[in-house]
Amino acid sequence: MKSRVLITLPLPAAVLGPLKTKFDIQVWDDGPMPQLQIAELAKTTDAILCSLGTAITADLIRSNPQLTTISSISVGVDHIDMEAATAAGLPVGHTPEVLVDSTADLALALMLATTRRIVEADRFVREGQWSSDWSTDFFLGSDLSRATVGIVGLGPTGLAVAKRVRAFGANVIGWNRTEREVSGVRNIALDDLFAEADIISVHTAATPETHHLVSADRLAMMKPGAVIINTARGSVIDESALIAALSSGRIRAGLDVYAQEPIAKSSPLLVLDNVVLMPHLGSATAATRQAMIERAYVNLVAGLEGKPLPWCANPEAYSSR
Ligand code: GLV
Repeated sequence: MKSRVLITLPLPAAVLGPLKTKFDIQVWDDGPMPQLQIAELAKTTDAILCSLGTAITADLIRSNPQLTTISSISVGVDHIDMEAATAAGLPVGHTPEVLVDSTADLALALMLATTRRIVEADRFVREGQWSSDWSTDFFLGSDLSRATVGIVGLGPTGLAVAKRVRAFGANVIGWNRTEREVSGVRNIALDDLFAEADIISVHTAATPETHHLVSADRLAMMKPGAVIINTARGSVIDESALIAALSSGRIRAGLDVYAQEPIAKSSPLLVLDNVVLMPHLGSATAATRQAMIERAYVNLVAGLEGKPLPWCANPEAYSSR
């Protein structure tokens, strides 16, 4: 009998084809999958192939002891109750490494878009407001080559951003939860990073320890005119405090991730000019998405064949089986 796989998002036919030949698959392709449906369909599945939009709750994991594998098409696993998965001996596959460069590129794009006011200026031109003559103080921004860039989290993506901004001539300072020596990056205490940086780029995973790491107090330490970029997870920044700081006009921001995704239609962020907003597209290049899907597929097949997942987010699950 074929193993059963619940796929919680639409996938290209080229991916579904090989899955269909190997497994008995059920695919949800009708927008975000409601929890009730997941709970219902999970009862008759051996593995779940999902991504960030599907919450895999402790309740779902505990009620389905037949599950052998969760494979997520993402590096982050904060949508999955990892404590429950590990306690249940359920390995969770993820897709590290392959999205580092794409995410770092997007962080740079947001830095340039905010410091050179690209989106704001684009709107100005499109709205037909460009009627005055060129003047010396028209849409002034700031230079990356003259900036001190503070990297919060010196993991692979933080380091890839450090490498890129150094190539632009920026001075780079960095902070990591467990101190990490990196050539070309001056280690600094987190509060000092907030006080010294002209541009701050956030690259820590979402964990209970990093929840609101960027607090109201730390945002208040930022220099007037400084910029904060977040391509990591929304929960790392206290979003209400960020909205207050942005509303005062004191700082600017470039965001790819939010406290709630999709962002609420009533979010005050949507009407602020000093923030550039992206809909969580850090890894959204064709080649990177392909590489992520491949890793998720390999993880899924390994799990269903009873082999260790090559990219397992909770290897300790194997010892609690
Ligand atoms: C993207 O945010 C991911 O975790 O893959």
